[in-house]
Amino acid sequence: MKKILVTGGAGYIGSHTALALLKSDYEVVVVDNLFNSSQESLTRVEKLSGKSLTFYQSDIRDKAALINIFKKEKIDAVIHFAGLKAVGESVLKPLAYYQNNVEGTLTLVEVMKECGTNCLVFSSSATVYGEANQPPYVETQPLGNPSSPYGKTKAMVEQILMDVAVSDPEIKIANLRYFNPIGADASGQIGEDPNGIPNNLMPFVAQVAVGKRDKLAIFGDDYPTKDGTCLRDYIHVTDLAVGHIDALTWLLKQEQGCCEAFNLGTGEPLSVLDIVHGFENFTKQTISYEFSPRRSGDLPAFWANSSKAQEILAWQPTKSLQDMMEDTWRWQSNNPQGYQN
Ligand code: NAD
Ligand code: UFG
Repeated sequence: MKKILVTGGAGYIGSHTALALLKSDYEVVVVDNLFNSSQESLTRVEKLSGKSLTFYQSDIRDKAALINIFKKEKIDAVIHFAGLKAVGESVLKPLAYYQNNVEGTLTLVEVMKECGTNCLVFSSSATVYGEANQPPYVETQPLGNPSSPYGKTKAMVEQILMDVAVSDPEIKIANLRYFNPIGADASGQIGEDPNGIPNNLMPFVAQVAVGKRDKLAIFGDDYPTKDGTCLRDYIHVTDLAVGHIDALTWLLKQEQGCCEAFNLGTGEPLSVLDIVHGFENFTKQTISYEFSPRRSGDLPAFWANSSKAQEILAWQPTKSLQDMMEDTWRWQSNNPQGYQN
């Protein structure tokens, strides 16, 4: 049985991926400093899967601690989620973002090389395409110049990983470029639990529905789109988690070193109003909203061409908009205070 280290595994996407790994009979070791998460997510992952995982509360930048974990656990492959992800905060605290996201990855890859672990799946983002590329984004387009320090850390890490792969014929890397992950495990037991006021659309909508927030502010109604609000490619977090298993399976089969990027999205652009009305329609909740000025840095529209992941990884998203809305609501209504319940 292969043993997978999941950095940032207590977080939103990491916990869903840890669950998918356990269900697929991998052994799971999680390293997370719990800066933006709770260990309760992992307790629930164990209950849902009926299997146990190993947890280390540790920072990936602590090289000595990481080496000890690798030596003790004999890791076959790494899925690397750990990092900071708030776009707006990254503009105010760029050093924290470069420190955590870039230095954290450098330390992780150094330790992997020192300990002979060659397989890495990295959490990248559609933001690496920047604004110069036209949607639908496809992996043959060049890396762009993302507007936020957060986005720049993702583009920088991808570049670093490509250089590492050129220098080391043994190393095998998949850079997974996520579009907009939403939803929750169908059990309603694990989900997205942001600290403070949510930055992202879906958790904000869910918190309005549960009465934690009064009203959604929709940022901009004058974009050149069908209804004036921005278009995004929303992808169910369980489909995304399965994408990691498919990438891992593919990497473990490769006989030669590689570094490949894959888009993970549905390819279907939806507007902010599509999400609000979809949520209302499928959950029978009413969402109060008002239009407010555009948010700085938002692009009008982007979505994925995910043919490469479909052809090479045999990955296929299966969840519908209805699943995304109902699962979000099941998680939020069962856990109005997130993991603090
Ligand atoms: P999250 O904040 O829920 O999870 C990240 C986890 O990493 C948290 O549990 C946090 O405590 C941990 N962490 C942060 N820095 C760490 C460090 N130095 N050492 C150890 N643990 C650390 O975020 P998420 O939404 O699950 O995102 C996971 C990854 O996917 C991130 O790298 C993010 O940038 C990327 N991503 C997310 C989205 C999205 O919309 N959620 C989109 C594109 C890419
Ligand atoms: N939006 C609102 N009101 C809100 C929050 C968001 O109207 O309160 C709008 C935004 O303006 C945007 C859309 O909803 O038009 C989606 O916004 P999100 O913040 O949910 O997502 P983004 O597309 O801005 O960014 C997300 C992740 C980034 C990642 C990017 C591409 O937050 O980390 O997707 O993958 F880089």
